[in-house]
Amino acid sequence: MSSTQPRLDFDADDPLETRDTEARALAIDPTRNIALEASAGTGKTRVLVDRYVGLLMAGVKPRNILAMTFTRKAAAEMRQRILQELAKRHREHTIPPESWKEIRDSVTDIAISTIDAFCLALLHEFPLEADVDPGFDLADETETPRLVDDALERTLRIGRSIATEQPEMSLLFAELGEYRLRQGLAKLIDRRLVAVDALHRFLRGAQTATIDEAVARLHARLRDGFASVPGGAAALVGGGPSQPDFALFVRDLRQLLGDPAPSAAMTQALMERVRDYLLTKDGAPRKRLAANYKKGHFRSPAAYDRHLGMVQALGPYVVQALHDYRRDINVVLARAVRQLFAVALREYEKTLQKHGVLDFSDVLQRTLTLLAQMEEFSRSRFKLEARYQHVLVDEFQDTSRAQWELVELLVRSWASGLGLTERALAPTIFIVGDRKQSIYGFRDAEVAVLDEASRYIEALRPIGQVRTAITRSFRSVRELLHFVNDVCAAIDKSPERPDAFRYSENDIFPLGPGDASRSITSEALGVVAGESDEQQAETVADEIARLLAVAIEQYQRTLRKHGVLDFSDVLQRTLTLLAQMDEFS
Ligand SMILES: Nc1ncnc2c1ncn2[C@@H]1O[C@H](COP(=O)(O)OP(=O)(O)OP(=O)(O)O)[C@@H](O)[C@H]1O
Ligand SMILES: [Mg+2]
Repeated sequence: MSSTQPRLDFDADDPLETRDTEARALAIDPTRNIALEASAGTGKTRVLVDRYVGLLMAGVKPRNILAMTFTRKAAAEMRQRILQELAKRHREHTIPPESWKEIRDSVTDIAISTIDAFCLALLHEFPLEADVDPGFDLADETETPRLVDDALERTLRIGRSIATEQPEMSLLFAELGEYRLRQGLAKLIDRRLVAVDALHRFLRGAQTATIDEAVARLHARLRDGFASVPGGAAALVGGGPSQPDFALFVRDLRQLLGDPAPSAAMTQALMERVRDYLLTKDGAPRKRLAANYKKGHFRSPAAYDRHLGMVQALGPYVVQALHDYRRDINVVLARAVRQLFAVALREYEKTLQKHGVLDFSDVLQRTLTLLAQMEEFSRSRFKLEARYQHVLVDEFQDTSRAQWELVELLVRSWASGLGLTERALAPTIFIVGDRKQSIYGFRDAEVAVLDEASRYIEALRPIGQVRTAITRSFRSVRELLHFVNDVCAAIDKSPERPDAFRYSENDIFPLGPGDASRSITSEALGVVAGESDEQQAETVADEIARLLAVAIEQYQRTLRKHGVLDFSDVLQRTLTLLAQMDEFS
């Protein structure tokens, strides 16, 4: 099928480019499962489009293809590109007439979806199985914050009443204040698909549950610390300076280390003076005594030296004990957050229900549950499995773990080779992404998911190569690519982290023939510095406007020279042409 071959003007002598050509051919082969990684402007979406068209040419119906991306704009653009490619191939007579008839008849079925829209459609189709009100609505972006506020109002009221009986909750309110607590809980609700797990992970294995336990551990550590220096606390107290302030320190220290251990609140107060005596304002062990204690306040210079030595030896113990105490208290606070978060989730669920709406996380969560439970609804399940036979996901680096789970549930049954016989092609999955372009961190995207998904796809049908990469850029000039190669090679890598930045051989942009010999000038590059993102964007926009003005001026001059047309005519003609192209699709 010559039409599905990539149209490249490569110099076949360059090994990087040969590899690139082969990788493209592999990636658009509609019989293979593929996990493609590639940098910006290398034609990832083009590969996806070619593959989609390849599937149509192989007789697959558009309704059996699930193509997904992340924004509505990208989805619309992808659809447009598929239609344009079909039109082009038709013009070039590379589609056999009988295929063209079939394709033309089903062209309106070509649909590219965002993951959110896909989930929404599934819930509307299977409301009973998903246990949602068939008439449910999606809370829009302006509505959601109001619903969250509403739920948090009640959550904080409940929290305050818990705090009257539970010192841990009371401490949480005291440490964070209501404003921050509200903000934090709103963030957790927004990211609840990962937040619940993250909190559980943080608390797994943590022992401290109450403030009293944290304080008891602090006492034990302080006692151990003081016992470990020669003569212990008694020696420190006995050989100290004759200052009234020191007497106060001694009183607090005795109480702090004595039996029974003081209450949590008391401990906080007592620690203040002990901390001041042994540590600097910055919390570091003292190398010399505080300024108000002089050598003359001691019985002898030797007593001073001995005392100073003890203070120096005790400092690190106190630092460690306070550090461990803070960690224990953080665990206690995290438990209180978890408790309050559970209340917030309940309240938020109630609010959503009251208003008859779902939000995006809810939609995703419910779709996941729906697909996971499909075993129970075998007819619906069969309907779905029969429908989605080819899955294509663009911009995969922006996929969250939950979203990948969803795709995984859709393709899981393929592993058993289900229903291969009646299909035009065995079911396939194609994912494509660029880990360097991951921008949806705030929506729980994790680059590690790309690796996991690739491994899963490799195991799905263990034949042929699944992972591949393309590197030739069609968008950027050599100078820019060279610069990116250089900068990315110089960035520190942490290979032990699954989400670490990577710039391997598969990421390097080939620079065309004569890589080493052709010199690289930096005229095409400029560095923009600015105080804020907006300012930087403005400077870049100004520069683009300036370059365009220069280009238009040059163009007009050329036109005038030939005495053909006025520039506005050209613009008018271009716009008419674009409108016609729009109409076609
Ligand atoms: N095989 C090809 N031959 C010639 N031009 C190509 C080829 N593939 C892509 N292009 C052109 O390169 C540009 C970028 O292509 P495309 O949008 O597919 O890249 P991408 O990798 O998806 O980009 P992004 O990283 O922004 O998503 C487009 O103008 C496209 O027409
Ligand atoms: Mg793209």
